[in-house]
Amino acid sequence: MAMMVMLLQIIILLGFLFMSPWSATAIGPVCDKEGNFTANSTYQSNLASLAGTLPSNTSSSSQLFATATAGQPPSAVYALALCRGDITTNLTACSACVANAFNYSQQACSFARGAAVYDDDCLLRFSGADFLAGPPNVTENATLFEFWNDVTIPGDASLVGSDVRDMLTQTAQFAAADERRRFAAAFMDATATTLYSMAQCTPDLSAEDCRECLRRIMGGTVNATTSTRLGGRVLVTRCNFRFEANRFFSDDQSMQRITPSSAISPATPVPAPALATNKSSM
Ligand SMILES: *[C@@H]1O[C@H](CO)[C@@H](O)[C@H](O)[C@H]1NC(C)=O
Ligand SMILES: *[C@@H]1O[C@H](CO)[C@@H](O)[C@H](O)[C@H]1NC(C)=O
Ligand SMILES: *[C@@H]1O[C@H](CO)[C@@H](O)[C@H](O)[C@H]1NC(C)=O
Ligand SMILES: *[C@@H]1O[C@H](CO)[C@@H](O)[C@H](O)[C@H]1NC(C)=O
Ligand SMILES: *[C@@H]1O[C@H](CO)[C@@H](O)[C@H](O)[C@H]1NC(C)=O
Ligand SMILES: *[C@@H]1O[C@H](CO)[C@@H](O)[C@H](O)[C@H]1NC(C)=O
Ligand SMILES: *[C@@H]1O[C@H](CO)[C@@H](O)[C@H](O)[C@H]1NC(C)=O
Ligand SMILES: *[C@@H]1O[C@H](CO)[C@@H](O)[C@H](O)[C@H]1NC(C)=O
Ligand SMILES: *[C@@H]1O[C@H](CO)[C@@H](O)[C@H](O)[C@H]1NC(C)=O
Repeated sequence: MAMMVMLLQIIILLGFLFMSPWSATAIGPVCDKEGNFTANSTYQSNLASLAGTLPSNTSSSSQLFATATAGQPPSAVYALALCRGDITTNLTACSACVANAFNYSQQACSFARGAAVYDDDCLLRFSGADFLAGPPNVTENATLFEFWNDVTIPGDASLVGSDVRDMLTQTAQFAAADERRRFAAAFMDATATTLYSMAQCTPDLSAEDCRECLRRIMGGTVNATTSTRLGGRVLVTRCNFRFEANRFFSDDQSMQRITPSSAISPATPVPAPALATNKSSM
């Protein structure tokens, strides 16, 4: 038995070494199809002005979140940036990530009037349409990006899948309950390897909207196949989640332990009624 566990660990380790799932950078661009701006237009200079100021405004915000508008319609550009909730000790990493996301948007979606860029440490959304007006839209899918590790977690697929679902659902609830950041980091050691997860919403969402946003993107993407993968991430402008086999965040203090229901219901018997004989001497 111990031999099998060790063998399993070696297989997982080899999987890591050869497939390097954690080094797979998954910077995700989603280019809007609403139209292009032209070189040297007012739109381009408005976008450039946001690229100059939004990075530092994001990292200097206590919530690592900023929105901004540059110019006037029809050349106005609306933008939002958010850094991952645990990036609190190296604010340069936050501003550099947002600056790089602007840059990357021009490589991946050249001249697109709108785009979303999802990097490890931050996300950026900009558009010529005023998505900042009114209440945040937690039901849009146009900016959805998903990325799943090709490697499958060993073990009974339906058990693993339900443990991963439990982990993601609970992480989402912790994130929604975080009044200040709408961010949570967690870990679960129920599967063959410890899994680490995070969930985050833009901090301007209510707890209710955050929960709803995460519930929707999980509902639409976490299925029998994806829930057994050794990592994945799904993002829209207003919320996102991610899980990996490596601790990809630095949030030590608030990291929560997830106990999946499979570890609670069948494994732990219901507390027996008090017996007349005291067995504690066993
Ligand atoms: C925008 O530009 C890209 C490439 O520069 C092109 O492929 C795309 O068709 C253009 N879109 C529109 C709506 O003009
Ligand atoms: C845009 O401006 C640059 C620098 O001023 C110039 O080299 C380029 O030809 C211009 N492009 C267009 C399409 O006007
Ligand atoms: C950045 O913050 C400064 C100071 O609060 C503000 O004046 C400026 O408009 C902000 N710019 C953007 C793009 O958010
Ligand atoms: C902070 O982040 C920047 C950009 O990612 C990096 O170059 C720098 O080494 C980091 N500094 C520390 C102290 O980790
Ligand atoms: C953006 O890209 C340009 C050219 O590709 C490069 O010179 C510049 O350093 C980049 N800026 C950032 C913040 O990555
Ligand atoms: C949110 O976005 C979706 C898809 O773009 C759109 O159908 C819906 O009307 C929007 N909801 C609100 C409240 O703006
Ligand atoms: C967004 O995706 C969800 C889940 O996949 C789906 O139920 C919903 O109808 C989609 N909404 C829009 C506006 O496309
Ligand atoms: C599960 O979701 C993935 C990604 O959204 C999709 O490609 C795949 O077809 C889905 N599989 C099943 C069994 O629904
Ligand atoms: C059983 O023994 C333990 C330790 O000696 C004691 O704390 C506990 O109260 C006892 N319980 C009963 C039901 O006698």
